[in-house]
Amino acid sequence: MDYQTLRTETRGRVALVTLHRPDALNALNTALLGELLQAVEGFNADPAIGALVLTGSAKAFAAGADIKEMQAMGFAEIYLSDFAAGWDRFAASRKPIVAAVSGYALGGGCELAMMCDFVIAAQSAKFGQPEITLGVPPGMGGTQRMARAIGKAKTMDLCLTGRMMDADEAERSGLVARVVPDAELLDEAMKAAEKIASFSLPATMMVKELVARAFDTTLTEGLRAERRLFAAAFALDDQSEGMAAFAEKRKPTFRHR
Ligand code: HXC
Repeated sequence: MDYQTLRTETRGRVALVTLHRPDALNALNTALLGELLQAVEGFNADPAIGALVLTGSAKAFAAGADIKEMQAMGFAEIYLSDFAAGWDRFAASRKPIVAAVSGYALGGGCELAMMCDFVIAAQSAKFGQPEITLGVPPGMGGTQRMARAIGKAKTMDLCLTGRMMDADEAERSGLVARVVPDAELLDEAMKAAEKIASFSLPATMMVKELVARAFDTTLTEGLRAERRLFAAAFALDDQSEGMAAFAEKRKPTFRHR
């Protein structure tokens, strides 16, 4: 597919989506959102794909929503168009998405990374919610997803001061799953996604759905949902295959991949 603001490729069962607005540090504008949704929804519909990796450039995963595009907008336009709502469609991806973050992940860029299922960060990565410096609060989930991911203290610190945190602090805080040397970022993220894509797709989708639910419901409801899906998984031949393979000391061959 020919995109203006992205590059996409598939490697085996993994789709790699690279944000590509090099002149604007991958600032997220309306065109990019439209293309990203087209790509991600397309890969979700493609049975040959089991997981996605989202990345940017060495200098920036994404430096935020496109300030120059938003600059002239007024309340009515932002409110009536429900400006940030399209991002809910990205977050609704049912297939797992690994964010591979190098350089700046600021504002909407940090929020986009947090919409992914987990973040692998290069040592150079810098995370922040600098919207306050522009006279606005975060608008793509920063206050909500970050508070759930890393708690109140650091979320308040980052959102109120606009400061950036480096990859090590982000890992300590729980925003980031792993930190790797810059040169290994894409390999590590692809390896993780390939591993995910080698498992039973309905099982990985269940895991994603359930962990996401933990941030959206009570413990009792979450545990009930987990038990229901755990039981449902026993209707899949992938469960029979996975458990038989273990007992027979061989590698499983999952059908629903
Ligand atoms: C539009 C941007 C941009 C952005 C960078 N650029 N970030 N354009 N929107 N968010 C552009 C610059 O204008 C510049 O274009 C080019 O990219 C290179 O950026 P520089 O600033 O020259 O690079 P550098 O000096 O290295 O500084 C890097 C930076 C800085 C620290 C990341 O660019 C920066 O502070 N960017 C803005 C970060 C930010 O505030 N993000 C939050 C946005 S609000 P020219 O044409 O001059 O070369 C947001 C709200 C989300 O995300 C909610 C929406 C609903």
